[in-house]
Amino acid sequence: MLNLAIFASGNGSNFQAIAEYFNKYPSSPVKLLVCDRSQAHVIRRAEDLGIPHVVIERKDYPSKELFELAILQHLEQANIHFIALAGYMRLIGATILKQYPGKIVNIHPSLLPAFPGKHAVCQAISYGVKISGVTIHFVDEGMDTGPIIYQKSVPVYPTDTAVSLQARINAIELDIFPQVIEKCLSGQILLNETSVEAWEELIICES
Ligand code: GRF
Repeated sequence: MLNLAIFASGNGSNFQAIAEYFNKYPSSPVKLLVCDRSQAHVIRRAEDLGIPHVVIERKDYPSKELFELAILQHLEQANIHFIALAGYMRLIGATILKQYPGKIVNIHPSLLPAFPGKHAVCQAISYGVKISGVTIHFVDEGMDTGPIIYQKSVPVYPTDTAVSLQARINAIELDIFPQVIEKCLSGQILLNETSVEAWEELIICES
């Protein structure tokens, strides 16, 4: 199975769900947390789970390229083959994309292409959509634009706030993202040119 790095910037509930999911393996593929914020709660989670982490902040580098080269150095040291973005609040640039073609996935709290960007849940509430959801996709140079692997809808109720909708979406994320990552790491989901190829039907256990 490929070695995985998880990139995260904040709370880290997805990071923890992925790390715990892979504990079922004798040797977990989750080798590294890359975090771009020194105060992020996800760092505490990594410490508690015994997963190595590095904090690499953009402000410490004069250019995005040098910032990403510093990240790459850590990825190489840890022999990382695959990256999952789990609440990583930065666009991945050309420097990292070139080294990991078709090997980076992201989770987003909307049914893309609706509501890309940082405020997807608030925007879904403001717009008044009745259905939102979760999207997992391969990462390209755009903002939440890469080829879609998996989507699941989530109802939006008239009484919902951004907080209640985020919670309903988060519960789905924690269930689904580890399973999709597992299929990516074992070669059952691949990015072929620009289309997603699943070697077998993409069966996810729905809770
Ligand atoms: C998730 O909703 C994810 O979809 C989005 O950022 C949030 C991260 O949450 N990209 P957490 O840090 O994993 O708790």
